[in-house]
Amino acid sequence: MKPSWGAVIFLIWSGAMACRFIPDNPDGAQLYAEKCASCHGAQGEGLRQLIPPINDLRRLQVIGDSLPCLLRYGISASPARGQPPMPAFPELEADDVAALWGHLFSLAGQPEARFTLADIRRSGCMD
Ligand code: HEC
Repeated sequence: MKPSWGAVIFLIWSGAMACRFIPDNPDGAQLYAEKCASCHGAQGEGLRQLIPPINDLRRLQVIGDSLPCLLRYGISASPARGQPPMPAFPELEADDVAALWGHLFSLAGQPEARFTLADIRRSGCMD
């Protein structure tokens, strides 16, 4: 059977439309592995006195809504604690940060924690 041009054009068009509407769904575990694990460790365990652990629920609760700001602007060194600065990650967009934030809670034993764009906006550091 000879395919009709109308059908071919429809398929190309619908494929293009589908791509436009598939949300970019960043993977927090993958982002963590790429951008954070080299310092904070594969499980967020930190590195001796040098890099703080970030798989601790209490710490994550204390950090709270300032997490997006920490990632956007980095953290200056804490010489008193012997800690170097943490780099900024200005390339991370709000949905990347939401996914990463959820992954930190997974590392802290709370895999059901979810963060939305509204949570990110509340930080005032990203829109
Ligand atoms: C180059 C090493 C390095 C990388 C990469 C890095 N961090 Fe950090 N991070 C640090 C250091 C060092 C500190 C402590 C800074 C200080 O207080 O002096 C820190 C602190 C933090 C804190 C605050 C901890 C607390 O208890 O106050 C969080 C949260 C955090 N990092 C998350 C992340 C996330 C998420 C990523 C990946 C997007 C990341 N870090 C990538 C080195 C790094």
